[in-house]
Amino acid sequence: LRIAVLFGGRSAEHEVSILSATNVMAALEPEKYDAVPIFVTREGQWLLSGFGDGRLATPSSGTEICLVPGGRGRMLAMPAHGAPHELPRIDILFPVLHGPHGEDGSVQGAVEVARVPLAGCGILGSAAALDKDIAKRLLQAAGLPVARAVTIHEGAAPSLAALEDELGLPLFVKPARQGSSVGVAKVHASQEFAAALAGGFRHDRTLLAEEFIAGREIEFSVLEDVDGELFVSRPGEIVPAESHGFYNYDAKYVDENGAALKVPAELPLEVETAMRDMAAQAFRAVGCDGMARIDFFLTSDMHFVINELNTIPGFTDISMYSKALAASGVSYAEIIDRLVEHGMA
Ligand code: DAL
Ligand code: MG
Repeated sequence: LRIAVLFGGRSAEHEVSILSATNVMAALEPEKYDAVPIFVTREGQWLLSGFGDGRLATPSSGTEICLVPGGRGRMLAMPAHGAPHELPRIDILFPVLHGPHGEDGSVQGAVEVARVPLAGCGILGSAAALDKDIAKRLLQAAGLPVARAVTIHEGAAPSLAALEDELGLPLFVKPARQGSSVGVAKVHASQEFAAALAGGFRHDRTLLAEEFIAGREIEFSVLEDVDGELFVSRPGEIVPAESHGFYNYDAKYVDENGAALKVPAELPLEVETAMRDMAAQAFRAVGCDGMARIDFFLTSDMHFVINELNTIPGFTDISMYSKALAASGVSYAEIIDRLVEHGMA
């Protein structure tokens, strides 16, 4: 089976995607898969990559790749020098891209137009899950608990006093469409507010001001099989180091001791069961298919809310998705097999 793995990309999570895709490439069993890595530059060009010695090539120029619309997997290679030529047809495309322009339905749409099977979530679920404002509305409509939030549009930000009345302090300011906590700020006082808004608006025209929920971060991996049955993993817990204040980008990827992962998380059985059930409901409510990681906050009195859904969760060494599945008896190789099977069905 020839599988194209798309990685890199235009979003702020470009580097995270390279880490994720490196692990995905290493987990693709060569006797089953003929993998074609395609590097998406920060400008959005698709360039033929290569995988050797455990590393993915991230060229700045080279052979451009074009997926032929309606081509059912036909790909054209356009070298910097020399004539364009056709590559062997791919059977499926696996986008290992995080954030806007990759996890948001855009690439999923291109793949649909090309009439190629896709590993992971389709157009609508991708777009809805990546937009925290839209996802929250869908979750609320399904009667699922979420943190209280106020949507902020560029040029029409309310005062911090107005937000404080509704949400209390501290509160979080987040871009609606972003991942890995990029552009997220915790606001304790008015002098931090302007910078939080400016930082958020660098990433999106819509922000969310969200109440701070003091609690544990619990995550579940969801994997859908060919028959549409959802497998929900055991819970994993993120324990961020005090020094980072919250599980921000640096705590995730820069500081080796930024956070610890506890898998499975220690929860009373009835709480775990209720949360797993809710993870499956959230997956459906937002229109996901294939896979997603569902993140919760759990307070000390065992109340929980859904924080967000990630349709292309991180596959880095420190990422929860594969670890929570491993703790539930599903190996890395199995995750890929199931995603492929689901995509080809
Ligand atoms: N957005 C990052 C990759 C995650 O959710 O794991
Ligand atoms: Mg996310």
